[in-house]
Amino acid sequence: MDKFVINGGKKLKGRVAVSGAKNSALVLMPATLLNTGKNTIFNTPEVSDIFTMITLLEQLGVKSKFHNHELELDTSSITSQIAPYEHVKKMRASVYVLGPLLARFGFAKVSLPGGCAWGPRPINLHLEAMKKMGAAIELEEGYIIAKAERLNGARIHFDISSVGATGNAMMAASLAKGTTIITNAAVEPEITLLAENLMKMGAKISGSGTTSIEIEGVDSLSASSVHNNSDRIEAGTLLTAAAITKSKIQLEYREHGNIESELFKLEESGVKILLKDNIIEIDAINSRIKNIDVTASIYPGFPTDMQAQWTAYMSIADGTSTITDSIYHDRFSHIPELNRLGANIEVINNSAVVKGVKELKGAKVMSTDLRASASLVLAGLAASGTTEVLRIYHIDRGYQRIDEKLVSLGADIQRVATSEY
Ligand code: EPU
Repeated sequence: MDKFVINGGKKLKGRVAVSGAKNSALVLMPATLLNTGKNTIFNTPEVSDIFTMITLLEQLGVKSKFHNHELELDTSSITSQIAPYEHVKKMRASVYVLGPLLARFGFAKVSLPGGCAWGPRPINLHLEAMKKMGAAIELEEGYIIAKAERLNGARIHFDISSVGATGNAMMAASLAKGTTIITNAAVEPEITLLAENLMKMGAKISGSGTTSIEIEGVDSLSASSVHNNSDRIEAGTLLTAAAITKSKIQLEYREHGNIESELFKLEESGVKILLKDNIIEIDAINSRIKNIDVTASIYPGFPTDMQAQWTAYMSIADGTSTITDSIYHDRFSHIPELNRLGANIEVINNSAVVKGVKELKGAKVMSTDLRASASLVLAGLAASGTTEVLRIYHIDRGYQRIDEKLVSLGADIQRVATSEY
């Protein structure tokens, strides 16, 4: 087990490239199960969630090669339609194999994911979508057993906007008989990229990027090559690292439009942002940190995956701010840890009320999930003295060697093996 030892208070400077997006790769990968052949996903990040998905796909018979961020997935000989508990419990995104397996093979047995570090994350919408398309679904001994001779196109309305359920339904509908219309569909960039890639495979999809997506099913799909987006949450996290340490850095990041909400909030908080072709420059050197409220909501709103990092930033703002999560009401396990570093934050319902303090002070803290650990690293960078962040396997799930990136920007952060848990 590793921990980070951070000597805080260093200014960051220089330029760093943002890695490929974890969450879009995690849906592009199972989408390859819909076809027969060699698929390539360029710009795939080397993070542990991606390796978990590779292991799961290999278990189903996919052959993989992963070199220099180029991931080849050969789906020519799928030998199993079963996603076992030991993989799914590690990563909820494993449920993405349900739609493709069911649509291509008429059968899928996928473990139920169980709980999550910040409360329930149901998959009822995924199952309802499959049922609407004619699948028989049974739950047996912790597994979803889904069967359908061939899925049929259907009208699917989601009560809640869900990235995962929209992705799963789109993948399944691509091979269904007839037309599927998904309303209140998710509009996140991960869905738009998935739709583009499914269309490259031969799917007939219109309306992606809007809340109404129409898919005309086809009989078969062919293998594709796709360039993954850069990670919008990593970009937001690194920008917030510069803001919290009052630094000036440049990010190599092309898809500026995907992080407008974060850029807007950062500017409101007093930093300067400059956009050029594939660069975002943030200059926080002379800024005082203004207290800015945010409400995490669906795209293009402020992302829930940036909520913890924003809370860390606001912990040293000039006044009080309220950070509300309208997507995951219990996603606040980082708060007690931030308070150990001297922050003054209280959780009231689904909001963190953050009273800005003059400074944070280093301490030993514990990661509880991916974004919570990112918030602790940001706080550690700004804190005086030494901060030790335990259980950093959480951060390695979704940030490609974040420590090396921060060190290249001038941070004093070391990865140290430890028996502490
Ligand atoms: N929901 C249901 N039923 C369902 C599915 C979702 O009630 O069947 C609810 C959820 O409980 C939540 C809301 O709908 O309140 C939205 O959840 P969504 O389905 O959109 O989330 P997801 O697809 O499971 C993805 C990301 C998450 C990110 C959320 C929200 C991946 C692999 N995961 O999850 O990323 O927080 O969208 O944007 O794409 C992370 O990267 O740290 C992470 C957790």
